[in-house]
Amino acid sequence: MNVFGVDIGGSGIKGAPVDLERGDLAQERFKVLTPHPAKPDAVAASVKEVVEHFGWSGPVGVTFPGVIMDGVTRTAANVDKAWIGLDARAMLSDTLGLPVTLINDADAAGIAEMAFGAGKGHDGTVILLTFGTGIGSAVFSGGQLVPNTELGHLELHGHDAEKRASSKAKEDHDLSWKHWAARVEEYLAHVEMLFSPELFVIGGGVSRKADRFLPLVNGIRAQIVPAELQNNAGIVGAAMACGR
Ligand code: BGC
Repeated sequence: MNVFGVDIGGSGIKGAPVDLERGDLAQERFKVLTPHPAKPDAVAASVKEVVEHFGWSGPVGVTFPGVIMDGVTRTAANVDKAWIGLDARAMLSDTLGLPVTLINDADAAGIAEMAFGAGKGHDGTVILLTFGTGIGSAVFSGGQLVPNTELGHLELHGHDAEKRASSKAKEDHDLSWKHWAARVEEYLAHVEMLFSPELFVIGGGVSRKADRFLPLVNGIRAQIVPAELQNNAGIVGAAMACGR
């Protein structure tokens, strides 16, 4: 069965019909630039453009980079604050005229990786971390997701961890791979101290360059592997979230 998945990111809004049996895109994805400012109405119009590109009618799963409870967006660390407290599921569903399921972006990537990627077959505690504009987290035990964990906002040296160790922080502070890897390692050590996972899955765009920094991350007990679905994990996970 195919379900449509949309991934709302800081730079792009991308989507495609997803083949849920294969955990892969059924058609090549279509992407539009995220409007700036990323106000709810403007983002919803972009989501509509992506869905209409495929002439899709049916359920749509959508990711959002913040806490989602019962379809309401509760936080918006890296997007417009107008999202906070909004019934975004209802708003998107009205705009599209289609049923919408809304899920945190890292949670979506996590469920996709657990079913079809790097987390497959792992029953212990698995933590997927996405390194991008922020740091997203998805925590699993026995294959079950604990939603909205927000481990990117743990405090490190008095700062929000994502401000120190996201891939945006690497760019903003012009950090070498070595310096950034040291920050990532320190962050992972902190998360490991709290949760003792058996596996960390490292996602986000930077996971494509895992060979540049993962070999520099030492001193972590858990196994650390790059995400496998990479750029499509959000879209696949968004579609998987429908009907969960
Ligand atoms: C948000 C999370 C999101 C992550 C990655 C964080 O700033 O609070 O909800 O998953 O960024 O986009």
